[in-house]
Amino acid sequence: MLATLLTAVIDGLEGALVRVEVDVASGLPICHIVGLPDASLSEARERVRSAIRNSGFEYPARRITVNLAPAGRRKHGAAYDVAIAVGILVASGQIRTSGEPCALLGELSLGGAIQPVAGVLPMVATLARSGVRRVGVPTANLVEASLVAGIEVMPLAGLDDAARAIAGPRGRRAAAAARAPTVAVSGSPGVQAQQSMTLVEPGSCVDLSEVRGQSTARWALEVALVGGHSLLLVGPPGAGKTLLASAIPGLLPPLSDSEALEVAVVRSVAGLLDPSARCWRERPFRAPHHTSSYAALVGGGPRLAPGEVSLAHHGVLFLDELAEFDRDVLEALRQPLEEGSVVVGRAQGSVRFPAHVQLVAAMNPCRCGYLGDPDRPCRCPPGDPERYVRRISGPVLDRLDLRVEMPRVRPAALLLDPRPESSAGVAARVAEARLVGAERNGGRSNAWLSGPEVQRLCGLDGRARGRLTEIAEVRGLSARGVHRLLRVARSVADLAGRAVVDEPAILAAADLRDPAVEAEPGLAA
Ligand SMILES: Nc1ncnc2c1ncn2[C@@H]1O[C@H](COP(=O)(O)OP(=O)(O)O)[C@@H](O)[C@H]1O
Ligand SMILES: [Mg+2]
Repeated sequence: MLATLLTAVIDGLEGALVRVEVDVASGLPICHIVGLPDASLSEARERVRSAIRNSGFEYPARRITVNLAPAGRRKHGAAYDVAIAVGILVASGQIRTSGEPCALLGELSLGGAIQPVAGVLPMVATLARSGVRRVGVPTANLVEASLVAGIEVMPLAGLDDAARAIAGPRGRRAAAAARAPTVAVSGSPGVQAQQSMTLVEPGSCVDLSEVRGQSTARWALEVALVGGHSLLLVGPPGAGKTLLASAIPGLLPPLSDSEALEVAVVRSVAGLLDPSARCWRERPFRAPHHTSSYAALVGGGPRLAPGEVSLAHHGVLFLDELAEFDRDVLEALRQPLEEGSVVVGRAQGSVRFPAHVQLVAAMNPCRCGYLGDPDRPCRCPPGDPERYVRRISGPVLDRLDLRVEMPRVRPAALLLDPRPESSAGVAARVAEARLVGAERNGGRSNAWLSGPEVQRLCGLDGRARGRLTEIAEVRGLSARGVHRLLRVARSVADLAGRAVVDEPAILAAADLRDPAVEAEPGLAA
């Protein structure tokens, strides 16, 4: 007997429909699976056989042929396990289907439990778009699958549940009860988020009131967050660079509905979507360690998963100890910083993952960390500080819009100064200025304005124009450098509530980027 079931696989960030055909016929007891890469074949076969036996069903001692179509599509992961197992049970007459199109997703354990899989959100979205009205998903992926409108979702804990799901409405356990209350919000085509999740929970991030002194760096961070400008913090060990960056999550406004959906898809494909989807609107803040591999940062690996730069989509990528990162990894960040997306290669073609990120980086000025410190001598051998900085390529350094020094905080300032402003006040200013910018820029942040847009949207008054010309001449700025300065000045003016970019905004923006960086792609010693 022949059984046909539906399932899905992940291709980049998109789900793709896969048809599972199972034929059980008389003949030698053997199981052939076609349409899978070699390594996955035997693994799937073993999991399915054990799971069927350990779930109280019989594994037919006959000739089983499984075809996963289309054969030409690459199939990653193991989300098709459940559909293969249920197909064998249908084809061997152990369970019945209602004939309604129903899809099944999930990986099997040898004991028959259905395990969560990555990419459920886009896979269910694809199924819904293809007209499938019902899908069974692993219980742990239920909330994420329920984000998709127009398809009924059933939780699957074991093969019994999957059998009930395909048996049709009567044999099925009511799934609706397990769902969270839904609120309709709009989304990108095909995926409509039904649920409005709890807003950002107060996390474990640092509050700005804990960061003493460092007024320049605090100000630079505020401007950077308003316009989405990249920021480099340079200072000796213990100056509070990591501390300041740890306050960023508490300063970022929540994601919009459409942004939240894009971020959820990336997290889903990476298998990192919180099962309760509580962080739905939390703007990403990713801080990968400097020992992270190329695949972990940029994306790729055997599963072709998105990397940290994509997990930070619509949020902040924080690279602490920038000079310690692998040079190739930093080089690979040029593309996302310019284009807002990253291309990850593989044998047959490549996939593009979104990576619209704001880069924040921190580093010591030299290996020992004390170059330029008024109280402690730098112990690096001659020429070493330059080499240390040159580990970061010029073009990458050039893409860091703002660069500020963070000197060591004096004990007196640390102990005696009044408590600094807390995150709440700064976050409110940032959110308001971002709104003003987004409204003027058609939804984009200042850092992502093109050259012509900068000219059109960053109107200068006469004095500001004169001052900008002067700075550009003294620093020998290219058109690119002028536009960069204008974008930052636009953010300063947005923070000050000014419609026109005035002279103080130009001067403030110029102060936030060391002239030495403009003149030459390399840090000033
Ligand atoms: N500006 C500061 N205000 C308050 N505490 C600070 C400051 N700078 C450093 N510290 C304290 O020193 C610790 C180490 O600082 P850290 O941010 O790791 O320094 P860096 O990253 O610059 O080497 C912090 O966890 C904090 O307790
Ligand atoms: Mg640090």
